[in-house]
Amino acid sequence: MLKGRHLVEPGDFSKEELEGLFSLAEKIEDDPAFLRECCRGKILATLFFEPSTRTRLSFEAAMLRLGGSNLGFAEPSSSSAAKGESLADTIRTVSCYADAIVMRNPKEGAALLASRFSAVPVINAGDGGHHHPTQTLTDLLTIKRVRGETANLTIGFCGDLKFGRTVHSLAKTLSRYPGIKMIFISPPELTLPDYIKEMLSTEKIPCQEAERLEEVIGDLDVLYMTRVQRERFFNEQDYIRLKDFYILTMEKMEKAKKDMIILHPLPRVNEIAEEVDNDKRAVYFKQAKYGMYVRMALLASLLGVV
Ligand code: CP
Repeated sequence: MLKGRHLVEPGDFSKEELEGLFSLAEKIEDDPAFLRECCRGKILATLFFEPSTRTRLSFEAAMLRLGGSNLGFAEPSSSSAAKGESLADTIRTVSCYADAIVMRNPKEGAALLASRFSAVPVINAGDGGHHHPTQTLTDLLTIKRVRGETANLTIGFCGDLKFGRTVHSLAKTLSRYPGIKMIFISPPELTLPDYIKEMLSTEKIPCQEAERLEEVIGDLDVLYMTRVQRERFFNEQDYIRLKDFYILTMEKMEKAKKDMIILHPLPRVNEIAEEVDNDKRAVYFKQAKYGMYVRMALLASLLGVV
């Protein structure tokens, strides 16, 4: 039962609970009328202290498709945070008005703090460079729908693995599935944080690190591309030096398996050439749509209407 629960980080839900959400999302995709109106009278607050296109709009679309309503802000300058209100007070207030809160915040740990002051479920839509658990729901549903299973895969994570919160959440969650091998492809400055490496080592997940995508692309079943997270860098020179370290082109794709799929949480900046979009292995826009279905399943479950 997910009713009333928070989703702060990927470990908050069991594997069985995740599988339940995926089954529900698949039913919604197969029958768009399924669950229509089930959230009539419910209100979702979307509090975005950082920019977003997919996460905020897919949550809002999900709530509207379930028959509910949305309120909130897309940037903090229009809220009383700009006057110095604490996050705790903002959350205590908003949880008087809404039945659930989706929040993105630049500070690691902000969602956990919010969950402690909220009277309603808090969903972490990204806390700094830490976690982004609903992107993981999106990623896993995409892999399941496109490849048929989420086990027995070699997945390559490429790009900014240091600040890429979607990578941290997906690697942590995939470590619960059997037969998973992970290859981490990054420049030395942007390798995976030690706490994620230690978790994977404790779980005895086969892992490999690489610097050149071309050397490992032929081994992959899933290639998870990420952008270099400019907003988390301390100086612009480092960002400029690293931003184009990886650019996936059709020339590089020639070395990939015919059934490898390319995921990207988006937004894309320059790390996937537009020519790759036409390849059937590029599923990142399909992935954005699965994000809405799985967020519908999540909202309906947390609000206890299914
Ligand atoms: N994937 C993702 O979080 O995209 P947005 O930043 O557009 O929400």
